[in-house]
Amino acid sequence: MDKLRITGNGPLEGEIAISGAKNAALPILCASLLTADTLRLTNVPQLRDVMTTQKLLRGMGMRVMTDNVHEIELTGASVDTLVAPYELVKTMRASILVLGPMLARFGEAQVSLPGGCAIGSRPVDQHIKGLQAMGAEIAIEHGYIKARASRLKGARVSTDMVTVTGTENLLMAAVLAEGTSILENAAREPEVVDLAECLIKMGARISGHGTDTIVVEGVERLHGAEHAVMPDRIETGTFLCATMIAGGKVLLRNTRAGILESVLDKLREAGGYIEAGDGWIAIEMRSRPKAVSLRTLPYPAFPTDMQAQFMAMNAIAEGTGVIAETIFENRYMHVSELARMGADIHVDGHTAVVRGVEKLSGATVMATDLRASASLVIAGLAAQGETIVDRIYHLDRGYEHIEAKLGGVGAKIERIQ
Ligand code: EPU
Repeated sequence: MDKLRITGNGPLEGEIAISGAKNAALPILCASLLTADTLRLTNVPQLRDVMTTQKLLRGMGMRVMTDNVHEIELTGASVDTLVAPYELVKTMRASILVLGPMLARFGEAQVSLPGGCAIGSRPVDQHIKGLQAMGAEIAIEHGYIKARASRLKGARVSTDMVTVTGTENLLMAAVLAEGTSILENAAREPEVVDLAECLIKMGARISGHGTDTIVVEGVERLHGAEHAVMPDRIETGTFLCATMIAGGKVLLRNTRAGILESVLDKLREAGGYIEAGDGWIAIEMRSRPKAVSLRTLPYPAFPTDMQAQFMAMNAIAEGTGVIAETIFENRYMHVSELARMGADIHVDGHTAVVRGVEKLSGATVMATDLRASASLVIAGLAAQGETIVDRIYHLDRGYEHIEAKLGGVGAKIERIQ
């Protein structure tokens, strides 16, 4: 199994090109199920989750062509297998995103229940509730969600909490439903907006995306389109945190400040000097960061997907930072691993109190989810000696060539067996 070896090595200097966003690419790939025509996508990140989604879609009969690793053409004319099997769904929860589009276009879908995952129980009851409100008949049998509807009907749906993939599933269902749907308490994440923009290019009639009320007027059919996936705001934030921890000056290209303002505000509070322009963000850090306190909440507040990386930064910061994780109940798996590197972190329920130490020390560490793994890699950049991050298949799910990108700005990092 691959590992990463990181040797603490002083400041980072140079440029990194940010990839397309994983969490926008996944729903947009699934949106290809909504039409028989070709959806052409560019700026698609080369990630294991993107490969898994392609495998899932191919298994349904989707024609998937890739002449360049970042460009994909999907043609849904011969989709005939309306099933997302357990073997794929268990490796990637986002597979649930095929439910809404399959049901909307074909009137039928079977998707394995995702079950629990490392960061919490993560139910999909809101996806089901919303589709039922649109007239779907849904049964849970043998571990599968079995859904049917002759044609979905527009409905007003208010989810009990803000759910990103829930909003995306209901949005993709509503675009082909008969009549108007109003999605209340909708997720405002930029990835939801990117999906809506792609659907609009395909002929969907959507307004209010980016606010908490999305209005969709269903149409009879969608057509092919071309769409460039938005930049990955979490990859962007991860490299910004890496620079805060290691010090130095790094320019991030192919990204934009407007999608991560809450993160930039916290980095400034921690002492980072940040500038941004059209398509780029630059960060400079020449001192030890100051600890910051934060609470994770739905967009536009601070993202749960950046919590672990800020924990790593606080671990070596001056002072004490208090972190509250309010989205997932079990997203502190990196704490015990950071502690093995010498971090001083005390967790009580949803709250973690991080007392900064002068230096971490390299160790062999392992994580059970994507962002936790990223936090260990960037902690390793400033640790004394060698850090080995085990089980990096988690990282490969969501970071494109992280070792090449960090190595390109001077980090001493290599993939080993
Ligand atoms: N929830 C329910 N019932 C539902 C849906 C959600 O109880 O039917 C709960 C969840 O258990 C959680 C909260 O609502 O406590 C919010 O979960 P949400 O549905 O928003 O999460 P998600 O859609 O499954 C996406 C991202 C995650 C990101 C979260 C929160 C994708 C593919 N995944 O997950 O990304 O952490 O939103 O922003 O978009 C990652 O990239 O590392 C990652 C985990």
